Amino acid sequence: MHTAVIGAGHVGIVQAVGLAALGHTVTVGEVNVERMARLESGDPTIYEPGLKEQLAKALENQSIRFTPDNQEAVQGAEAVFVSVPTPESPDGSAFLDILWKVVEEIARAMDTGSALVVKSTVPVGTCAQIATRLQELAAPVGVVSNPEFLREGSAVEDFFHPDRIVVGAEDQELGTKVADLYRDLMAPVVYTTPASAELIKVASNAYLSTRITFVNSLANLADQVEPEIDILEVVAGLGMDPRIGNRYLQPGPGLGGACFSKDVAALEAVARRAGYDFELLKAVITTNNRQPVIVVEAVEDLLGGLSGKQVGLWGISFKAGTDDTRRSPAVAIAAGLKERGATVKAYDPVATHPDLDSVSDPITAVDEADGLVLATEWPQFQRVDMAQVAQAMTGRLVLDTRNLLDPEKVKGAGLRYRGWGRFPNHHCR
Ligand code: UGA
Repeated sequence: MHTAVIGAGHVGIVQAVGLAALGHTVTVGEVNVERMARLESGDPTIYEPGLKEQLAKALENQSIRFTPDNQEAVQGAEAVFVSVPTPESPDGSAFLDILWKVVEEIARAMDTGSALVVKSTVPVGTCAQIATRLQELAAPVGVVSNPEFLREGSAVEDFFHPDRIVVGAEDQELGTKVADLYRDLMAPVVYTTPASAELIKVASNAYLSTRITFVNSLANLADQVEPEIDILEVVAGLGMDPRIGNRYLQPGPGLGGACFSKDVAALEAVARRAGYDFELLKAVITTNNRQPVIVVEAVEDLLGGLSGKQVGLWGISFKAGTDDTRRSPAVAIAAGLKERGATVKAYDPVATHPDLDSVSDPITAVDEADGLVLATEWPQFQRVDMAQVAQAMTGRLVLDTRNLLDPEKVKGAGLRYRGWGRFPNHHCR
């Protein structure tokens, strides 16, 4: 089938190469001409395992092409996937101006009977509003909600192995047409109304955020109580209950990335506007905002103050496997440390950040450092020679906010290991 994707960001470009790999042809509308030129030459603008290879294949067999003109992009497409940013507004609600601009732009340029598929994460009720607008514009197309569940760092893998395909459509025929695009993936299809599909998306992110925030709070508590608790033992025991499950239970320095915090805030804003006080989500937001501050306080406590101290930071991206630093707890921790008088040298295998002084290897990051804070769970940190770390550092503290390192190896090198929620630190006030 011929399709179009509007917006070649994290989601759009993976959707486009994925559709191409499934045998469809795709025209991608991308207004950022620099990004478009790079993609056209096979050079993805983001670090995403497998993306470059899939893009190369699609370009080679001519199943993908790019244009800066969205109206041109949608011509001849039976399904048009809109994957433009819907960032957070100051009041927490989703900012939809970009999405609406695209809808206005493409509605009448689309082929009769085609589907305008909303991939962007949007508040409940957006597809219904789009349907109304399409009628007003007398655009001969229907709207379908088809949210994405792609994790950065494994987005290509997630595209090809989805747990479910959610398709929200009032027009069943149109819904089936969209679901059929993914037929070869053999994934279960959940047919719903557009509003239910929209809620499934934000509720998934909000639920996972709540779950991790709960575990983070447990880890913070474990650092406070006597006798000793190891949070990793606790989550292993919790996760063996099939009603709970063992994924998304790793404590850490707080939620990062473009989606989790934004979607929790957006759902809370939807509730607020509807007159419902979703107190649970408010607690998730405030608890999560505080998590990197607790890390900074822990470092301050463990180093006996931060003024004039030098801290090495391992990790800049919001999680391993990506160069994305949006809402990265690592960046928030660095800012907090600096605010309290420390200097920070950071190392990350792929990410950099304009506010951070970053170096090209993990040992240089800890050179003459009073303490090391591991903020991102890159597996390569496990392979760094801790003896070299100990030799480079002036101080002894290693604070592992992801519980990634082997405590025995760290201690064996003469360093002082602190995990998160393990081996009580008594630092979480
Ligand atoms: C998330 C969702 O997992 C995807 O399903 C969704 O499609 C995507 O948002 C989106 O809405 O576009 P992503 O933002 O890539 O994907 O990140 P995750 O891997 O889910 O991690 C989110 C945050 O939770 C990270 O800061 C991560 O470090 C943290 N996390 C995750 C933990 O602290 N502990 C865990 O056990 C798991």
